[in-house]
This record gives sequence, structure tokens and C-alpha cells, in this order.
Amino acid sequence: MAQASSPADVPSMGRRQFMNFLTFGSATGIALGALYPVVRYFIPPSTGGTGGGVAAKDALGNSVKLSSFLAEHNVGDRVLVQGLKGDPTYLVVNSKEAIADYGLNAVCTHLGCVVPWNASANKFICPCHGSQYNNEGKVVRGPAPLSLALAHVSVDDDNVSLSPWPETDFRTGEEPWWS
Ligand code: FES
Repeated sequence: MAQASSPADVPSMGRRQFMNFLTFGSATGIALGALYPVVRYFIPPSTGGTGGGVAAKDALGNSVKLSSFLAEHNVGDRVLVQGLKGDPTYLVVNSKEAIADYGLNAVCTHLGCVVPWNASANKFICPCHGSQYNNEGKVVRGPAPLSLALAHVSVDDDNVSLSPWPETDFRTGEEPWWS
């Protein structure tokens, strides 16, 4: 005698539909996931609303917020953030309310060491071969041949961002060597 199947053995239409939905959803998700890099390739990088800029990031990779940045640092500080192309870049604290509208790429123009800020000397002094840069990153002692590269700094809705500096170097009056 044939046994009637119990309701637990045969999925109800509702359960089938639900399983179909899950299968369809997974397949669609995988397909979209696979397409994402392709689509991203054709979309220009996000500017963060700053005209070609990138968000400045702190050591933990978090976007730098001006209000907390100013609360954590003192006037005159040069503070490293991650800037254009991931380069270490100094933000300059101009006052309790503002940072400078330029950032300084911390990569030494001699052989590429990251140049630390020396507050007591009011200079950047490279530990590798002794090059020195003034408080605006202009080279004042070799062997570094060039000043530290500049980047524009802007603040939009408390978010700090950096963008390329293609204009004249205000420290030397010369064309920017980095652009
Ligand atoms: S790398 Fe900075 S002085 Fe040589």
C-alpha cells in the first residue's frame, strides 16, 4: 500500500517559491559581484566631492575629520596622514580653527625615506642622509635636490581631502617638479 507522503517531505508551494527566490538571489548576487570590478573600471574614481581629491586617512585608515583632528593636535604640528596615491603626507595645523590649504608629501626627494618633522628645529630632517626642509617643506640642505611635493588640502563638511597641485610651487616660484 502506497504511503501518503507527509507534508514535511513535499515542500509547499510557498517553500518552493522561497527556495527559488534564494537560488535566484544568490545567482544574481554572484553575477553582480563578478561584474562589479568590470563596472568599476569604467567609472572614474570617486572624488568625494572635492574635484579630483582623495579623502585623507589616518593611521587606522579612517577618514580624517577636521573637528577631531584639530582637537587632537596643537597649533604648529605637522601630522602625517595617508594622501594621494597612499603617500604619507603632512597636514599643517595653522590655528585652533584651521589647517593649511596645502599638504606636504613626506617622501624625501633624495632616496625616498619618510622625513620626520622636528618641532624643536622647526624643520623636517631626514634621518637617512641628513637632508633638511624648512617648515613649508622647501629644501634647505642636501643631498635632497628638491623640495617636498605639495598637494592641495580642502575641507568639505568636516572631511579633509587632498588633491593634486599642478600650479607653481609657492615656495620657489618654479613649476612643480612632481606634476
Ligand atoms: S633619503 Fe633623505 S637624505 Fe637621503
